[in-house]
Amino acid sequence: METKQQTSQDYYLDLESRHGAHDYHPLPVVLAKGKGVYLWDVDGKKYYDFLSAYSAVNQGHCHPDIIAAMKEQAETLTLTSRAFHNNKLGEYMKFVTAYFGFERLLSMNTGAEGVETAIKISRKWGYLKKGVPENQAQIVVCNNNFHGRTTTIISFSTDPDTKAHFGPHTNGFTHIPYDDLEALKQTLESNPNIVGFLVEPIQGEAGVYTPGKDFISGARALCSQYNVLLITDEIQTGIGRTGSLLAVCGDCTCEDACEQQPATYIRPDILILGKALSGGTYPVSGVLCDSEIMDVIQPGQHGSTFGGNPMAAAVATKALEVIKGWGFTPKCKTSWRGF
Ligand SMILES: Cc1ncc(COP(=O)(O)O)c(C=O)c1O
Repeated sequence: METKQQTSQDYYLDLESRHGAHDYHPLPVVLAKGKGVYLWDVDGKKYYDFLSAYSAVNQGHCHPDIIAAMKEQAETLTLTSRAFHNNKLGEYMKFVTAYFGFERLLSMNTGAEGVETAIKISRKWGYLKKGVPENQAQIVVCNNNFHGRTTTIISFSTDPDTKAHFGPHTNGFTHIPYDDLEALKQTLESNPNIVGFLVEPIQGEAGVYTPGKDFISGARALCSQYNVLLITDEIQTGIGRTGSLLAVCGDCTCEDACEQQPATYIRPDILILGKALSGGTYPVSGVLCDSEIMDVIQPGQHGSTFGGNPMAAAVATKALEVIKGWGFTPKCKTSWRGF
């Protein structure tokens, strides 16, 4: 019988299959190197990376400036815990809040942690500021959403594969169809205990579903009308992925148009970022909002050992500087200029 010669790819596939959890079903390609838009597998075959690690490497693989910042910080100070201050976090917070136009940042690691953070902040805002009776807060979410994999987040997924046999699920979420402003209006009207509307500006796992152009601006108006926080999850769509800094930036398609007709930048109350916030080098996520909302979180009520560590701060600052250097601002679309 003919035996297939084991390639180096087969070796790595076999290792993962034998020793790893079977929580993913990747294509049988074993990657070993990345630079800019290119990847190489262990046999030296070159690929264009259109996936960009699910939008985490919008700056390109191993961007030299980000890697340099990472190396420098890694040799200086990596983690202090938040029992102390570090000399990177404050400057990062100042930079990121100014760049995106919010007053405060809460720094976490993974995207799912960012979403969890936004849920906690908006619930607490609901109880302390909106006057919602304790344990009655509801957050409106969309059918076919994807916001991560924690037990609370999968509780409001509508994908049976994601949530089956992981119950009991977390309460407090109300579903509407995506891209349906009438449903949002009716839902907000019918329940005074709604504290937030959590939405992806373009749905990712749903099959890259772009809503009608009035959906997010209409949602902004409805949320303001009903005193509900608009929470945009830009973990996947943000930081240059859709051709603008954020997917909620305006609709114009060239710089001239931006100058002629200022883009319709829609400002959420809470903005969640992750993935490309570090250029794919390190897990960094962040939740941005103004003090009136963020200040409901007091010491001991939220955090993470790695959240806001100096490595994350150094890397995220550089990753955003790269994006900013390409001309991305919160208010206008620019053309993509890779390095
Ligand atoms: C829109 C959106 N939100 C949240 C997440 C979760 O991010 P993470 O995988 O870093 O936890 C993802 C990941 O794909 C995402 O696309």
